[in-house]
Amino acid sequence: MKPKESLSEKISRISKKNHLSPLRYPGGKRKLAPLVADIFQRQGTDIKLFVEPFVGGAALSLCLLESGVAEEIAIADKDDLVAAFWQVVFSNEAEKLADQVSNSKVNIRSWRKIKADKPSRILDKAFKCIFLNRTSFSGILHDRAGPIGGIGQTGKYRIDCRFNKDALSRRIIELSNYKDRVRFIRCQSYKKTFSDIKQTKLAKNSNKNLYWYLDPPFIEKANFLYRSSFKPADHELLKKQILDANFPGNWVLSYDDVQIARDLYSKYKGFSRVNLSYNARVDSVERLIASEIVVSNVIERLRLKGRKGIPAMGKIIPLNGFTCNRNASLGKRVAS
Ligand SMILES: C[S@@+](CC[C@H](N)C(=O)[O-])C[C@H]1O[C@@H](n2cnc3c(N)ncnc32)[C@H](O)[C@@H]1O
Repeated sequence: MKPKESLSEKISRISKKNHLSPLRYPGGKRKLAPLVADIFQRQGTDIKLFVEPFVGGAALSLCLLESGVAEEIAIADKDDLVAAFWQVVFSNEAEKLADQVSNSKVNIRSWRKIKADKPSRILDKAFKCIFLNRTSFSGILHDRAGPIGGIGQTGKYRIDCRFNKDALSRRIIELSNYKDRVRFIRCQSYKKTFSDIKQTKLAKNSNKNLYWYLDPPFIEKANFLYRSSFKPADHELLKKQILDANFPGNWVLSYDDVQIARDLYSKYKGFSRVNLSYNARVDSVERLIASEIVVSNVIERLRLKGRKGIPAMGKIIPLNGFTCNRNASLGKRVAS
């Protein structure tokens, strides 16, 4: 008989799924899913609501939703194309989007047309998002990003090499089945998401069941990657808000491991670094991203309690979690 899959194995398997997210998102964090789940597991309360205010490709939300670890998710992004994409995926219009993906013509002509379009209908925005994301250099939606293979299609890869119509449309339909467990999807700044969530009964009454993953725009090069990015003062403000004693719930924040991020958080008791090792392209140069900064009020509490197995502040922790407990459960799990 096949041994029963542990929760961490399940999360790790889902995080590696092909097309986990239909978006090939720059800075996508699917690799962090097992670690974030492990951190949450150590908090030991049910995840009634999991919130991602910088959702992008939604890698973490999708892992926690599909594994059944989170009862509900609430997601938002300031980019209207990204927000529209998720709004349609988790709606009754998902099938229309899947059909549009299946029937799309992927060539430079259609790329130019879609890039120039200024759609107002949500379905068209959602299609523009997935089309440009899967056909542009490194999945970048920013105006400055060109098509894969270049306008002359002289590169090693062609514009349609990442546009597997069948797999993408199938995945859109598959994800739409989870729509009843999506509390909201909004196009808004994280500040508004913070205030919206603070107004909920959950935040007011039992915020131990409220969980957040915060993945703000990269500190370096974000203005090439996203249509909306942060200025240095925004990173400071975000820090001030989440370190406020009244910020509700349990949270994990991640950043690319650069000096500015270390300066911001290295004195905080919940500061850690994690080994990632992946290649990312933010311009024409491919770089090895070796570590990420992970900060969490759960880690802070565990350290304050002197819990064993928690690496010292700033020490590198492995991607599969602190001391991976194969049989531990993560609160109540809903059918998935
Ligand atoms: C690092 S990416 C998130 C990637 C995501 N975690 C994933 O796995 O795909 C940061 C996201 O923040 C969004 N963003 C930028 N400024 C924002 C703001 N002020 N409020 C909310 N979202 C913002 C960007 O559009 C981008 O999608």
